[in-house]
Amino acid sequence: MRAIVIGASGFIGRHLMARLGPDQAVGTYHRHAIPNGVSFDGTNGRIDELLGRLPTGITLAFVLHGAIDTEACARDPIGTAEINVEGVWRVLRGLLDAGIRPVYVSTEYVFDGTRGGWRETDLAVPSTQYGIQKLEVERRLTADPRPSLIVRLSRVVGTEVGTHSVLGPWIEEIRAGKTMRCATDQIFSPATVEDIAGALIKLADTGATGLYHLGGPTPFSRMGLVRLLLESIQAVDPDVRADIVPCSLHDLPFLEKRPLDTSICIDKLLGTIDWDFTPMEAICKTLAERHFGPNRTST
Ligand SMILES: NC(=O)c1ccc[n+]([C@@H]2O[C@H](COP(=O)([O-])OP(=O)(O)OC[C@H]3O[C@@H](n4cnc5c(N)ncnc54)[C@H](OP(=O)(O)O)[C@@H]3O)[C@@H](O)[C@H]2O)c1
Repeated sequence: MRAIVIGASGFIGRHLMARLGPDQAVGTYHRHAIPNGVSFDGTNGRIDELLGRLPTGITLAFVLHGAIDTEACARDPIGTAEINVEGVWRVLRGLLDAGIRPVYVSTEYVFDGTRGGWRETDLAVPSTQYGIQKLEVERRLTADPRPSLIVRLSRVVGTEVGTHSVLGPWIEEIRAGKTMRCATDQIFSPATVEDIAGALIKLADTGATGLYHLGGPTPFSRMGLVRLLLESIQAVDPDVRADIVPCSLHDLPFLEKRPLDTSICIDKLLGTIDWDFTPMEAICKTLAERHFGPNRTST
C-alpha cells in the first residue's frame, strides 16, 4: 500500500482508485460506501486516527474531498468552509505531520475568468465562494515548507450518465428532448476523467511538488462542446434533434457571477510528464455510438 485517496467515492476518486488498484491504494468515503473503502468524515475525523486503522507504508495522499457544488458554497459560505477550508486543511496538516506527501486537487475557479490560458504564475482572484475556499487552502499549503503538490483541474468530463460531469448527462438531456440553454461565453479546458486520473498519478510519481495546471490541451466553449456531441450523434443517427438555446453564462440564474473563461495552460505539466489526452472528438464519437449507433448498448 502506498497511497491513500481521501474522497475516493466521488467522480474523480473512483477513477483514481480504479487506476491505482487495491494493492496500491486505499480510499475513503463519507456518505456513499465503496468496496474496501474506509469511512472518514472530513469535518471532525482525525488523520492520525485514520492512518492508525490502515496498513503502514503510505507515502502519498490524494486529497479530493469536500462540498464542491459552487451553488452550495454560495448559499452557505460559512458552513461549506467548515469542510472545504478548515476540514481539508486539518487533513492536509495531519498528512504532512505523518510524513505523507499530499496532492491537493484544486480548481480553475481560482481565476476570475476575464481571459483564458491561465498559467500557474498568473494572479488568482476568485469570484465565487468555491474558488475563494479552494485558494485559501492552496495558500495555507504553499506557506508550509514541507513537500506537497497542488494540481488545479479544469472541467472533467465523463461518459457516465448520472454524474455531475458534462457529456454523459447531456446524452440524457438530448434523448429526453429537453431544451438545453448553453453558454457560448463559458470556456474551459475539458479532459476525460480517465486522463485526469492517469496524469495525476503520473505527475505525483515524478515526485513533483508545487503548483501545476492539469486539463485538456484544447479549450472549448460549453456551446462548442454540446455542438460537437450533437454532431457526433447525428453522424450515427441523422434523425436526432436537440433544442439548444445559446445564452451567456451570466444569463443563467446562479447566485454568484461565474468566471467566463477559465481555460488553463498546461505547458508546465507537459514539461514534466508526457501525456496524450483523449481528444473531445474521440470521446463524443464513442458516446454517440454507444447511445445512438446501430449497435447501441443503452436505450
Ligand atoms: N469534477 C470536476 O470537474 C472538477 C473540476 C475542478 C476541480 N475539481 C476538484 O476535484 C476534487 C474531486 O472532485 P469530484 O468531482 O470527484 O467531487 P465529488 O464527486 O463531489 O466527490 C467528493 C468526494 O468528497 C467526499 N466528501 C464530501 N463531504 C465529505 C466530508 N464531510 N468528509 C469526507 N469526505 C467527504 C465525498 O464522499 P461521499 O460521496 O461518500 O459522501 C466524495 O468522495 C474536488 O476537490 C474538486 O474541487 C473537480
